[in-house]
This record gives sequence, structure tokens and C-alpha cells, in this order.
Amino acid sequence: MRKTARVILGTTAAVLLAGGAGGITSAAAAGHVPTSAQCHNKAHPPTDPAVIGGCIVISRKEGNCLACHEIAGAIEPGNIGPRLVDIHEHFPEPATLRAQIWDPTVANPQSPMPPYGRDKILTNKQINEVIDFLETL
Ligand code: HEC
Repeated sequence: MRKTARVILGTTAAVLLAGGAGGITSAAAAGHVPTSAQCHNKAHPPTDPAVIGGCIVISRKEGNCLACHEIAGAIEPGNIGPRLVDIHEHFPEPATLRAQIWDPTVANPQSPMPPYGRDKILTNKQINEVIDFLETL
């Protein structure tokens, strides 16, 4: 299942690139964090929700997830939390993944991870974008 999804994502990216539709900024996020240049490209801002979510994840002012999590492609990530990989296997239920981002203290009262939804650190839309990104991992 996951392999098929990756192949499809890869094909979409290739088609977008081949079509010259804004270069890498339009390509689907493919299992790694976007680059800062990709996130801050004023001429071609990211439009794919998964890429936008990846930009929230790497932004220090928004998700700041790399302070604690290693994600493929990240530069000098922290290691307080687990490496974020194979998200579909860890969270077959999208609702459980959402709950972890919304308020990790429900599952683990000692969690140092910020309750992004409960404390309105991210909006609902941003949380959906972050989840779209995580599902590419
Ligand atoms: C201050 C550190 C910290 C930050 C910042 C943080 N996390 Fe976490 N995260 C953790 C820890 C620790 C865990 C382990 C489970 C727990 O304690 O909740 C975790 C668990 C997770 C898990 C479950 C992983 C698994 O395989 O079980 C996901 C998904 C996750 N975090 C996503 C994120 C995302 C997305 C962000 C940014 C929006 C983020 N985290 C920010 C510390 C952090």
C-alpha cells in the first residue's frame, strides 16, 4: 500500500516538474522535509497542503517539530521525541495521529510535546496540513 502511494507521489512530482509548473515548489512532499528555500519562495509559494504542512513543521515560529524530532532531510534535528517515520504503520487511524498533535498529554500526561490544538499554537487548518505532511513519511 505505502509503496504504491510513494510511486504515485513520485509520479505526480515528476509530472509537475516536467510540466514546469513552478518547479520544486509545486511538487508533492515526498517523504522528507521541504527546504527553507522551497518554503520561502515568494515567486512560487507552496500550494500542496503536504508541502505547506512540512513548512509548518520546520518553522521555528510555528511547529518547531525539529527541536525534538528527527525527520528525513532535516538539518541537526533534536532527539527528545522519536524519529518520525512510517507514520501509517504507527498510526493506522488518522484520528489517533490527530489526537497526538492536538494534545499529546491525553495519551501521555508526562509528554513534553506541546498541545498544538488545545493551546491554539496551530490552527485547525495548519494541523490538517501538518498531518498531510506526516502522512508522506
Ligand atoms: C518539546 C519536544 C517536542 C516537540 C516540539 C514536538 N514533539 Fe512530537 N513528540 C515528542 C515526544 C517526547 C514524543 C513521544 C510521545 C509523547 O511523549 O507524547 C512525541 C511523539 C510524537 C509523535 C508520535 C510518534 C510515534 O511514532 O509514536 C508524532 C507523530 C509527533 N510527536 C509529531 C510532532 C509534530 C508534528 C510536532 C510539531 C508540530 C511535534 N511532534 C513537536 C516531543 C516533541
